[in-house]
Amino acid sequence: MKEEGVHGDSGSNRVIEVFDTTLRDGEQTPGISFTKEQKRTIARQLDKLGVDIIEAGTPITSKEEKEVVKLICDERLSAKICGLARVLTQDIDACVDCGVDMIHIFVPSSEIQREHTTKMSEAQVKEQAYKMTSYVKEHGFACMFSAMDATRTRLDYLIELYKTAEEAGADILNVPDTVGISEPFAMYELVGEIYRAVRVPISIHCHNDFGLAVANSLAAVKAGASQVQVSVNGIGERAGNADLVETVMSLNSIYRLKTNIKTEYLFETAKLIERFTGIQIPITKPVVGENAFSHESGIHTHGVIVRSDTFEPGIMTPEMVGHRRRIVLGKHTGKHSIEKKLREIGMFPSKEQVDEILERVKELGASGKKVTDDDLFTIAEVVTGEISRHERVVTLKELSVMTGNNLIATASLKAVVRGKECTSAQMGVGPVDAAIKAIQEIIGGEIGGDIELKDFRIEAITGGSDALAEVIVGVEKGGRMVTARGVREDIVMASVEAFINAVNRLMQE
Ligand code: KIV
Ligand code: ZN
Repeated sequence: MKEEGVHGDSGSNRVIEVFDTTLRDGEQTPGISFTKEQKRTIARQLDKLGVDIIEAGTPITSKEEKEVVKLICDERLSAKICGLARVLTQDIDACVDCGVDMIHIFVPSSEIQREHTTKMSEAQVKEQAYKMTSYVKEHGFACMFSAMDATRTRLDYLIELYKTAEEAGADILNVPDTVGISEPFAMYELVGEIYRAVRVPISIHCHNDFGLAVANSLAAVKAGASQVQVSVNGIGERAGNADLVETVMSLNSIYRLKTNIKTEYLFETAKLIERFTGIQIPITKPVVGENAFSHESGIHTHGVIVRSDTFEPGIMTPEMVGHRRRIVLGKHTGKHSIEKKLREIGMFPSKEQVDEILERVKELGASGKKVTDDDLFTIAEVVTGEISRHERVVTLKELSVMTGNNLIATASLKAVVRGKECTSAQMGVGPVDAAIKAIQEIIGGEIGGDIELKDFRIEAITGGSDALAEVIVGVEKGGRMVTARGVREDIVMASVEAFINAVNRLMQE
């Protein structure tokens, strides 16, 4: 029986039930088909998450579907298991055979669907609804009744139909916005009308054709619905169903209504469905997207470091949903993010070094590369290991190389050595060889004595063709050897940088 006096209440003690249809409407997503094992895993995860009802499938569809629904029933989960059936005895019998807890029967009620699909009159639909609801109840099962395409059904008739199902013993009445054409104000009105006309609880089932499924579900709850039908990641027919995570977190944090969902498992549940469907969660997806709690710009990161709710909702935190906050590095990064990340791993660069690290991170970000923490740490290690700008004997000014399969690699390089600008152009077996020869020539000429390259190693730090390259060189002069590193996206630049770093160090010692 529905609660009295709950109409539209926010922040009350109402507990909104979560009916998950990932395994039924969700699997009707074009191109998605879960294996038996995946379905079992999903059902277990939904149960761990705390959904009240799992719609496990439509047993009449096939032998395999029936087996899976039965398998899920045999799991003896805390969640109730529901099977879907048309208003036909064979469909209901198939659900009964599986041992479900609840049978969800549906019948098209709108004129367009009745005339062009089932060819049933309004009276026939009512009669069949009455008979089949009674049939479910006679078998001792809880019954949910859905008037399919409710939002396009004549209101007077829709209410008559729901009352008929209620008289026949339906335990809950579902209002499907089958083609997703409603909007929150209309939904509020519609569910309000139904709510005032019946005594049993109301469930809401919204499709997302206009991106309003979550908003419509919330409007329905505001109008008195006590159950929301949702799917993980919003999968389902066409544009999908109302997204579980977004609906639950809105109910929880904005409407202050309770659900039985253990919100800390939301992120892992969304990730599981992402993996099983192969449909990637967009980075900007609310609550569970990669960027949901990520910050890059200087102003935002500074604010969030001081107090997270300066640039986050606050009423919802990453901890609440099992996600994490990320300070992302890129072209908008500010000093505070760099310092915070480095402090966390015990690095305390000087002010000048932070400026240098920031400059390089921004440069890397501006080139379109995602700057990872590993990139930052490597850049920081190199920068903090370098001789300070004022003390450098050699500074690189310009480097250009030419290479190709029918060309001899050539490099022209400009550097400042002890305040004097010098240039050199050299050929080599490859661009790195040519560039090193050019810098060697400049340094040899200005500093004197042979500077020999003794050791040379290249390591890619991150994957991909735009990975940062780390070059480690060992350089010897007059029997003294030093090692230094260079790190850049470009291997030639990283090599020259490493060589110059080594020379600067040699000249210091
Ligand atoms: O969208 C719909 O109308 C349905 C029904 C089976 C409830 O999925
Ligand atoms: Zn649906």
